[in-house]
Amino acid sequence: MSKSKKMAMSISIAALFWFSLSALALSQGGEMGGGPPLPEKEALKKSREISADFSNELQNSFSSFMTEENYLIAIEGYSNTAQQITQAFRDQTGYYLKRVSLRYRNPANAPDPYEKSALTRFETLNKAGKITGRYDSYEVTVEKGRKYLRYMKPLTTDKACLKCHGGKNDIPEEVKGFLKANYPQDAAMDFRVGSVRGAVSIKIPLTAEKGKPLKK
Ligand code: HEC
Repeated sequence: MSKSKKMAMSISIAALFWFSLSALALSQGGEMGGGPPLPEKEALKKSREISADFSNELQNSFSSFMTEENYLIAIEGYSNTAQQITQAFRDQTGYYLKRVSLRYRNPANAPDPYEKSALTRFETLNKAGKITGRYDSYEVTVEKGRKYLRYMKPLTTDKACLKCHGGKNDIPEEVKGFLKANYPQDAAMDFRVGSVRGAVSIKIPLTAEKGKPLKK
């Protein structure tokens, strides 16, 4: 075997190994969730409930750290708990749940192709003034023969968000330092009031796994 072929092979073996590791991580309480299938209408109701509860919980957590005007304490606390709260909701509900963004701070919040196109659509709708507080989006998709309801609720920025997601002049120095040290790839800055900052994304199965009958 030529040297370059050998190298290509070891790279693909490494990639395969990495891939199976991440698949394993996902199947063990990662983002995927093994919650029960629901009829479409109930899946939509459930998505709206989970999304509202999840956003409240994040907001409560943030407020609990924001007791005095100290943004360093706030961002330290919030940064530690954001993913924990997300995981707790996945464990509780059994469903796929994420906060995603086109310009994300934490790579764990990177969008998949479906989420990417929905977020791009939200940007356009927002420019036309169509993203109101009540707006949300849902669609039935099919993946590997299984139907899902994909639900997304856009999150827009208000003035308070700019302390950590705004421009150079909005973000306090201590927060800048924290971001540099903890999120070296951070792309979640330079937003303005009324931007689409991201979305809550939920995915609920509508049919049983392939080959398995629906449990009654
Ligand atoms: C005190 C600082 C702070 C404030 C204020 C803040 N955020 Fe964030 N935000 C963060 C941090 C830190 C993360 C990364 C959390 C993680 O690790 O998942 C984040 C992540 C996010 C994400 C997930 C996508 C990503 O970029 O990783 C969204 C969506 C988001 N914030 C929206 C908002 C909105 C909307 C507001 C205002 C209502 C807001 N944030 C206010 C610090 C803040």
